[in-house]
Amino acid sequence: MTQLPGLLDTEAIRKDFPVLDRLIHDGKKLVYLDNAATSQKPRQVLDALSEYYERYNANVHRGVHVLAEEATALYEGARDKVAEFINAPSRDEVIFTKNASESLNLVANMLGWADEPYRVDSDTEIVITEMEHHSNIVPWQLLAQRTGAKLKWFGLTDDGRLDLSNIDEIITEKTKIVSFVLVSNILGTVNPVDAIVRRAQEVGALVCVDASQAAPHMPLDVQALQADFVAFTGHKMCGPTGIGVLWGRQELLEDLPPFLGGGEMIETVSMHSSTYAPAPHKFEAGTPPIAQAVGLGAAIDYLNAIGMDKILAHEHALTEYAVKRLLEVPELRIIGPTTAEDRGAAISFTLGDIHPHDVGQVLDEQGIAVRVGHHCARPVCLRYGIPATTRASFYLYSTPAEIDALVDGLEHVRNFFG
Ligand code: ALA
Repeated sequence: MTQLPGLLDTEAIRKDFPVLDRLIHDGKKLVYLDNAATSQKPRQVLDALSEYYERYNANVHRGVHVLAEEATALYEGARDKVAEFINAPSRDEVIFTKNASESLNLVANMLGWADEPYRVDSDTEIVITEMEHHSNIVPWQLLAQRTGAKLKWFGLTDDGRLDLSNIDEIITEKTKIVSFVLVSNILGTVNPVDAIVRRAQEVGALVCVDASQAAPHMPLDVQALQADFVAFTGHKMCGPTGIGVLWGRQELLEDLPPFLGGGEMIETVSMHSSTYAPAPHKFEAGTPPIAQAVGLGAAIDYLNAIGMDKILAHEHALTEYAVKRLLEVPELRIIGPTTAEDRGAAISFTLGDIHPHDVGQVLDEQGIAVRVGHHCARPVCLRYGIPATTRASFYLYSTPAEIDALVDGLEHVRNFFG
């Protein structure tokens, strides 16, 4: 068995994830390499979810009865865990949403409805990058269309990194917000936050970081990032679906207007007007995803017990090994950085002129789960002149043997298509 320095004890970890024992397609071992799409869930998270429903289920912040108080304590306890996990200065800066897309849409709508000095209007500019997930493109296109603001973006270099050579022309005195991904879901690139934040601060622009592919895989410190908003989702970090997070700086959350209106987010309501609850509740209209937040709290406990720095080291070792092995496959082209430096554990590639959907299907027949397509980052495929990629992505339970299985599987694909 291949041993690499820095690997976690995957034999022990994999026992926590029941689904990883599944046999598929007539008894083939499941090789799950689609972790950038969603992670699997450990028993500890599954137990927290069922325990919540079996013992505590009630609506939060609304009742004086025992269950309502306990459910509220669990929900708010999950907020504490998230705040600590990302080193937020205050728990009130943690807003629960449905997913990272909703978090990013929330920021765009806050700014669209804001008063000066935050308001995005036809005299202002919004900056994104060409490697964004659609969830960090479309909300800004919508905002630009509605307000007349200009949408600008950083392009990409041939090796899958941000081209910041024209940073002073892209981020200008007119820029209101710069929103970019910390780790690309398609290229795997880890972006240079400091350089972008420095320039944004020079011109007084706000910074929003999409950390969806970072929060599951590396220590995340919102204070060190020096951003104004950070968005991520629970289901990619061992938590359930239906729960996302938006962290925002407290003074901004106090000043910016709510987006969704409804129960929970108000202070008083009359037929003529309403006043709003303080953040984070101002941004959490309606019954929130209570069980999902509790599940995310359990996921954070699980990840903390292993250690985010150890998870990062594990994935770094796997990525280094995977890049080396994949580049040995004839006609395989990695779309994105070809070294393990400044890259995460999602590796996209093409294989000769075999369509990625065919690659994915033949791999699936061998029990290997990868994602194929444009990965909700179609501008990246357009940039590199390809219709789609095959993407393998790893997590804390992934092993070198699974990478070997992928490489063998790709040989099989090549033979199959002659
Ligand atoms: N954003 C997820 C992915 O990259 C769904 O697959």
